Amino acid sequence: MKILIIHGPNLNLLGKREADIYGKSTLDEINAMITKLAKELNFEVDIKQSNHEGDIVDWIQNSKDYFALVINPAAYTHTSVAIRDAIAAVRIPAVEVHLSNIHRREEFRQKSLIAPVAYGQISGFGSESYLLGLRAAVSIANACKGAS
Ligand code: DQA
Repeated sequence: MKILIIHGPNLNLLGKREADIYGKSTLDEINAMITKLAKELNFEVDIKQSNHEGDIVDWIQNSKDYFALVINPAAYTHTSVAIRDAIAAVRIPAVEVHLSNIHRREEFRQKSLIAPVAYGQISGFGSESYLLGLRAAVSIANACKGAS
């Protein structure tokens, strides 16, 4: 039972990057929290980060063996038709997560190209957004398992 976690561009800088908006936790710390919760929920996670749109598209295209995807597309949320189309193509349930509440930030951040193809979106809970996203993905995966 595996779930894929993808972090988009600049999230490798968490901890140093605009901590007032994104919090003080580093990506390694967040990944450790995700891995710990996954273990408690009896799921495995693969966690990837890239600053390159094409890497993210490739990972999504190759995700057919995962039960669900938790993705923070970061800035690509607002620009990437390619990531949106990849999620639509694979039909794996995707949970979109954001550390900040994108709906109360600059106007250009309030539009997500990913949301219409995501199962749902979690935005604004800091690093906790990933844990809520993982819990959502686990419950979707368990429901799919039960249905099959
Ligand atoms: C973000 C919000 C995006 O607008 C921004 O470009 C990011 C991070 C978030 O997690 O709050 O890099 O996805």
